[in-house]
Amino acid sequence: MRKLEIPVERKARPIGVLDSGVGGLSVIEEIRRQLPHEDILYFADSGNCPYGVRPPSEIRELAESAAVFLLEQNAKALVIACNTASTAAVAYLRQKWPGLPIVGMVPAVKPAARMTTSGIIGVLATEATGKAPVLLDVIDRFASDVKVLIAAPPGLVEAVEDGQAGTPETVAILKKAVEPMLEQGADALVLGCTHFPFLRPALEAILQGRLHIIDSGEAVARQTVRVLETAKLLNPQTAPGHLKCYTSGDPELSRVVIANLLKLPDPAALDLEYVAAERNFSWSKK
Ligand code: DGL
Repeated sequence: MRKLEIPVERKARPIGVLDSGVGGLSVIEEIRRQLPHEDILYFADSGNCPYGVRPPSEIRELAESAAVFLLEQNAKALVIACNTASTAAVAYLRQKWPGLPIVGMVPAVKPAARMTTSGIIGVLATEATGKAPVLLDVIDRFASDVKVLIAAPPGLVEAVEDGQAGTPETVAILKKAVEPMLEQGADALVLGCTHFPFLRPALEAILQGRLHIIDSGEAVARQTVRVLETAKLLNPQTAPGHLKCYTSGDPELSRVVIANLLKLPDPAALDLEYVAAERNFSWSKK
């Protein structure tokens, strides 16, 4: 039988990456490191952020709308660089588009459960992820012999969105969340929200090495490589990939915050476009 060749045109299309806001940029950093020749479209739904305080049905609809937007821009694959959107929507999206490569994420409870010596781990997540059946199932399957302390303090996601990751207010929220974990003897801390790697400097200053911090960005990027390889969709270009960002938030603030998180010396050089936050959601018409 003739071998099915995937046209270069399809391989050359960009990867679509979405998050409720700027958090997924912590995953983008790793994807760009592991896949330097891929063009990437990043959608920060900052105008609807945070997702984590919403009911699962709304999160699913927001994630679906962001995914549709990226597919309309010709994305060849999707990375849901958001634990909250993944836990609420990835199964649904895979069912909706069976042929489409989709990478999702769950908090890295499995590696944390493997590495703990005290048998106690902490998970810092959003409210929705903390309650998600998908997370509880992962805990059941991979950490049933481990005590898992979940904290979902409000305000952290907003702090990253507003470029306030290192302020005394943010440090106080972080301290209040991790101190009970330390008191109870946890030795590993899972960053179960993609916004939180940007709080790492503040966290490290508080923890002073007392908790091993685990973030899933690297693993998600590795999975993206695997998924594109399997689908034979790796971009053959030899030039460096281009990153284009879309935001549904305040474009001026987004430009400064995104450039800062990506450590770009010149915010004006960022390829950024505004997308309306109101995209006909059934719940917004109620
Ligand atoms: N970045 C998202 C995550 O990984 C959540 C932020 C939000 O609540 O919108 O869970």
